[in-house]
Amino acid sequence: MNQDKNKSGGEAKLRDGFTSSFGVLAATLGSAVGLGNIWKFPYLTGTNGGAGFLVVYVLATLLVGLPVMISEIMLGRKAKRDAVTTMKMLAPAGQPWWLISTFGVLAAFLIMAFYSEVSAWVFAYIFKAIGGSILSNDPKVTSAAFGALISDPVQSLLWQWLVLALIGGILLMGVSKGIEAVTKKLMPLLFVLLLVIGARSLMLPGAAQGLAFLFTPDFSKITAGVVLTAVGLAFFKLSIGMGTMITYGSYFRDDQNIPLTTFRVMCADLFVSLLAGIAIFPAVFAFGFAPSAGPSLLFITIPAVFASMPFGHVFMVVFFVLAAIAATGAMLSILEVPVSVLSERFGISRAKATVANLLLLGAIGSGCALSNSVLADVKLFGMTFFDLFDFVTSNVLMPMGGIFLCLFVGWVWGFDKLKAALSNEGALKNEALLRVLFVVVRFVSPLLILVVMLKGLGAI
Ligand code: PFF
Repeated sequence: MNQDKNKSGGEAKLRDGFTSSFGVLAATLGSAVGLGNIWKFPYLTGTNGGAGFLVVYVLATLLVGLPVMISEIMLGRKAKRDAVTTMKMLAPAGQPWWLISTFGVLAAFLIMAFYSEVSAWVFAYIFKAIGGSILSNDPKVTSAAFGALISDPVQSLLWQWLVLALIGGILLMGVSKGIEAVTKKLMPLLFVLLLVIGARSLMLPGAAQGLAFLFTPDFSKITAGVVLTAVGLAFFKLSIGMGTMITYGSYFRDDQNIPLTTFRVMCADLFVSLLAGIAIFPAVFAFGFAPSAGPSLLFITIPAVFASMPFGHVFMVVFFVLAAIAATGAMLSILEVPVSVLSERFGISRAKATVANLLLLGAIGSGCALSNSVLADVKLFGMTFFDLFDFVTSNVLMPMGGIFLCLFVGWVWGFDKLKAALSNEGALKNEALLRVLFVVVRFVSPLLILVVMLKGLGAI
């Protein structure tokens, strides 16, 4: 536990936090690794031309993702409070920087609304895979099976509520006994399962073609919109621009090397995305499917791919278990943002805060759960709730959060405080590195995000 007093609860009590260095890594990686790697990254790479998109995405991760992630964790650990209070505490009096975290809470709800629905499909697919009902090498059959699931309002809602209840249950156990304990068990398992699936896929006859798609860049498909998608993915992947990493940073230990831990998480996260790509694309090509199937790639193409390979039944179950594990760690971190704000800022018990947030999410989330059935024709800006929430968070809210966070750290917080916080008050000798980081946060990242965002949205 962090030896820190929580004053909002009346009498002083110890604030919960991550207890070991491995726990910090597991929880932070648990937040980063998720459906972003297994669902979003493969389908966006597939629809945006493959390796060229991958190169832009890696650049976005290095130039924008890493600096913003380090900054968020730094601020969180400094204040050791929920995301809104952190910004209130650290900003000069009267300046509304806390709005970054308030919009972050909004983003958390919108993301969780559609994320919990994709997770619902993943959890449902574990059972469908075990039962064998989605095992067919005919994409028409797998497509009909997926259609039947998402267009059934009852199944969509029930699976979503089940997922929400599971996440709520873990959060109720607290930060160290819930989030940290669960992710410490799940993350190693995830890596093992992913290596098994990746190795299996690489042994397929068409593997070379899939690897070429993933690793031989063709930049002709890179438009401003594609670059914005890559930047949005970098934010979504590293769980930044919306207060999640501020919140997790507040549970970091004081002796944790933030830049190093963040760099490790970034590398491991990239590695998982590549492994997911290596597991998926060779198999897609080996069996003659299109890599550009879009969001349904995971649910229509993948089962057909597995059905076409020996022992496909077993591998498919393993694959969806893996996806469910990844989704769980990520959802814990998304929901932790509003739960910690509500409980710490307003002095409500963690249990009450969790239940209140779950109820609200059940309501907002059903807009996404029903986006393919009852509410399919309800559209805003030409998009269903599901698509709209996804688009607005990755392409507007998270990048905007990132810009303002950089401006705060680079122009208000300043180098001296950054250096003190990231060198653990002088214990780490990393000044040269911090100088580079500061210049990037002050100038490069915010400008880059702004230009990409305005161009991508067609404003310039
Ligand atoms: N990083 C997660 C993923 O890639 O699946 C998604 C996510 C988690 C986004 C936490 C935002 C967040 F705050």
